[in-house]
This record gives sequence, C-alpha cells and structure tokens, in this order.
Amino acid sequence: MNSLESKVVIVTGALGGIGGATARLLADGGAHVVASDIVDTGCGDLVGELSARGPKATFLTADIAREDQARALVEHAVERFGRLDGAFNNAGIPQHGKPLVDLTSDEFSTVLRINALGVFHCLKHQIPAMGDGGSIVNTSSGLGVLAMPDAADYIASKHAVCGLTRAAAVEAAPAGIRVNAVLPGIVGTPMVEAVYGSLDSPELLDGARSLHLLGRLCEPDEVGHAVRWLLSDEASFVTGALIPVEGGVTAGRRLAPS
Ligand SMILES: NC(=O)c1ccc[n+]([C@@H]2O[C@H](COP(=O)([O-])OP(=O)(O)OC[C@H]3O[C@@H](n4cnc5c(N)ncnc54)[C@H](O)[C@@H]3O)[C@@H](O)[C@H]2O)c1
Repeated sequence: MNSLESKVVIVTGALGGIGGATARLLADGGAHVVASDIVDTGCGDLVGELSARGPKATFLTADIAREDQARALVEHAVERFGRLDGAFNNAGIPQHGKPLVDLTSDEFSTVLRINALGVFHCLKHQIPAMGDGGSIVNTSSGLGVLAMPDAADYIASKHAVCGLTRAAAVEAAPAGIRVNAVLPGIVGTPMVEAVYGSLDSPELLDGARSLHLLGRLCEPDEVGHAVRWLLSDEASFVTGALIPVEGGVTAGRRLAPS
C-alpha cells in the first residue's frame, strides 16, 4: 500500500511554485491535501485538480504570519477530515535585495514574520493536533545554512527555520512526530521570476549554472519528491534532518577558482 494513502496533509503556500507542485505529488500519492495560501486566486482550480488526482482535497485562505489563522487552518483540517497526519510548511517571501546596512527594521521584520514566525505558528498548532504520530516538513533554503550578499533578511529567516525544525524535532519525537526541513537551491517558480524578471533571464541561468553542481535551475517537482518522501512512512527513521535539494551548492564549487 502507498505509504501516503489517505493521510491528511496541510500544504501552505499551495498556490505557489513549490507548494503547488508538492500538493499535486501528495495527491498522486493518495493524500487528502488541505491546501492553503494567503491569496485565493485559482484555489478552485487547484482543489479540482487535486481531488481529480487523489482523494478529496480542500482549500482555506490563511496568513500564516497570524497565529489565529494558522490555528484555524489546523482546525479546518481536523474538522474536515477528522485528523491531521502531515504538514508542509512552505509559504514564504523573498528578500528585499538590499545590503544589510540599508534594510529597514520594518523590511527585516516583515520577512522574519512570514518566513520564521509563520512556521512557528504552524508547528505550534500542528504538533498537538497530530496526537501520536505524524510528519512535518518545513521549507528552509540553501540560504538556511549559507550566506550571500543582499539577503540578510531572508538568510536570517531561513536559518531560523532550520533551528525551529531541530527544536520541534526534539520536542515532538516522544509523540512519534518527525520534523524535517528541505533546503532548496534556486527553483524555477514565480518567486524567482519576480526577483529576476523572467525564468529565462541570462543572469538567473548563469547564476544557477555556476552555483549548482548540476548546472541548472531546480524544478519545483524535484523539491516535491523529497517532501513527499519525508512525509511518507518510508522516511520513518528520519527526523531533525536538513535535507539539501540544491544541486550540490553546499558540497563544493562547480568551477575551479580562476
Ligand atoms: N524558489 C526558490 O528558488 C526557493 C529556494 C529556496 C527556498 N524557497 C522557499 O520555498 C518556499 C516556496 O517558494 P516558491 O519559490 O514556491 O515561491 P512562490 O512565490 O511561488 O510561492 C510562495 C507562496 O507563499 C504564499 N505566501 C506568501 N506569504 C504568505 C503568508 N503570509 N501566508 C500564507 N501564504 C503566503 C504566496 O502567496 C505564494 O503562493 C518559500 O518558503 C521560499 O522561501 C524557494
């Protein structure tokens, strides 16, 4: 039997690139997907597609930076399907693209509020709702363990996601709940398109070629496959892990220094 069959799984940021691709893969694997996003444009199409690919899916609009809305999302999943087995805490926003010294306090807080506080709100309400046993995956980033210029707000938020993942793994393990993170490289999604103007931008493709050992952009599905595995019983002895899905960025350099 498929190890995701009939599991109830929340996906945040489900109308975005990585969230949407992962939600589809989870539905293909037999999961009831409780999709969520801060916006709702296209949510009907997504629910229709997920329900056609797998068992019944649902959607709730929620801003995960607001604790009441993160809690309401968990309550919605439990009311609709009777339990919660898994969650992919994936919603996030990019950096403001400025040197640290030029970032305003408001800009820094905005990114931390959504990317880090939002994941905290989700974990806080998902863990008790799972009872005994479950699996949670948070989306960090290669920038959750590395740094580059002009992204201090994002880097701080994604390092925080790694710390939250380990803290939650330690505290939730006695209840049989596993908590892991995926650390994607540069993935071809609307977020990256917004930063670079286009997924065909030479700057973006050159950047991916020089950064990723595999020499290309990551596809959203390539992150989704790792998430699907972590959410499944096949990853039953994996917890507190920070799983790189970044084409080898943290392993070494593709080009010899000139
Ligand atoms: N694309 C990349 O290169 C890349 C690399 C590493 C990590 N990530 C991370 O992956 C995750 C998904 O990113 P993506 O590339 O699919 O971007 P995306 O912009 O396509 O999707 C992000 C989704 O999150 C939603 N969202 C934003 N703020 C929210 C909030 N407060 N509450 C609920 N939903 C909210 C957006 O509406 C959007 O649908 C993010 O956490 C991002 O930081 C992306």
